[in-house]
Amino acid sequence: MRSQVVIIGGGPSGLLLGQLLHRKGIDAVVLERKTRDYVLGRIRAGILETGFVNLMREAGVSDRLDKECFIHDGTLIADGEDMFHINFKELIGDSVVLYGQTEVTRDLYDAREAAGAETYFNVEDVVINDADSDAPFVTFTVGGETKRIDCDYVAGCDGFHGVSRQTIPLSVRKEYEKVYPFGWLGILSETPPVNEELIYSNSERGFALCSMRNANLSRYYIQCSLSDHAEDWTDAAFWEELKRRIPQEAADALVTGPSIEKSIAPLRSFVTEPMRWGRLFLCGDAAHIVPPTGAKGLNTAASDIHYLYNALVQVYEEKDAEGIDRYSEKALARIWKAERFSWWMTTLLHRFPEMNAFDLRMQQADIAFLRENRDAQKVMATNYVGLPY
Ligand code: APR
Ligand code: PHB
Repeated sequence: MRSQVVIIGGGPSGLLLGQLLHRKGIDAVVLERKTRDYVLGRIRAGILETGFVNLMREAGVSDRLDKECFIHDGTLIADGEDMFHINFKELIGDSVVLYGQTEVTRDLYDAREAAGAETYFNVEDVVINDADSDAPFVTFTVGGETKRIDCDYVAGCDGFHGVSRQTIPLSVRKEYEKVYPFGWLGILSETPPVNEELIYSNSERGFALCSMRNANLSRYYIQCSLSDHAEDWTDAAFWEELKRRIPQEAADALVTGPSIEKSIAPLRSFVTEPMRWGRLFLCGDAAHIVPPTGAKGLNTAASDIHYLYNALVQVYEEKDAEGIDRYSEKALARIWKAERFSWWMTTLLHRFPEMNAFDLRMQQADIAFLRENRDAQKVMATNYVGLPY
């Protein structure tokens, strides 16, 4: 078999790249380890930057998003009982879109199937061969049969636990990591959101976040110990703890109900450099991870896809390799700024086990400056809605 591009990973990164390339007549095969339903069963965040929404429009996959999304012009930040609004729209003239990642992935799969583009599910033993040559090829097994696809380029969109990053030799690869000493316990409940926009809350008992998916599907998180297990938390215990971590006015308005999903996610910052090795290009979680506090996971994947998509179009249409030669440099320049913002938001809003009284005063001064200073709010708004590609 032969394909111009092989995309490893059928998550949002791989699917968005595949759809964009398809619209330019560039063929790309997607290899996915799981099934479509398994991929769609993952609960992920739902804050989309304008850049991501524009990419979905460019990919011709934005009809449902444009119809069903929520526009958030700002967010609430709570420091104990004190809550203040950061108005992105008023401060910098931009907003964010709330539309679940599951729905993004669903729309992308529907578009891929409608286009008749080739996707292999339940693949195993994926190996990227000769990535540092002019003739890479990918081998894998599916349904007990071993297959080989010769290609021009490989897009490693296979997430943090995929094979693509591991294909780059350790002598070439440099990794940067920060693991946070806590996790997020999250629940999904078929209840109306406590507020129209999100509430990020720093309380003496730890961080909490009030989010949503739609008018009757809410998403809540509380900072928890890494030794916690989701099954150790009853719904009642979760709701009681959440109410103790958000301002009373929000706690009084909170509508509780049975959780339909409950899980704990660890928090880490991670980047691998370079994001290109020969004809292999890493995108999204395969190359970098952010703590979810800044809602940057999907949005950092989007800018990688933007750069790689345009680079591949440039090379196929203009025989110009400038874009692919600069891919890693351009992608990393934006990734590191998103990593910094996500680290800053995490440091601002969580109680770290090792914090002493001075550290707490520093955190409180940081929040007070954000509450009182318009320029500080503009800096946060500029990063939250997304830096330019
Ligand atoms: N072969 C084929 N597919 C693989 C392999 C492999 N060896 N390893 C992993 N995969 C698949 C996974 O099953 C998954 O569907 O690659 C896909 C990677 O998808 P994501 O992990 O969602 O990563 P990405 O597409 O970059 O999306 C980033 O997902 O984790 C969130 O916060 C993150 O929102 C961000 C988004
Ligand atoms: C979510 O809705 O799951 C969500 C929103 C904002 C974040 C993280 C997660 O920063």
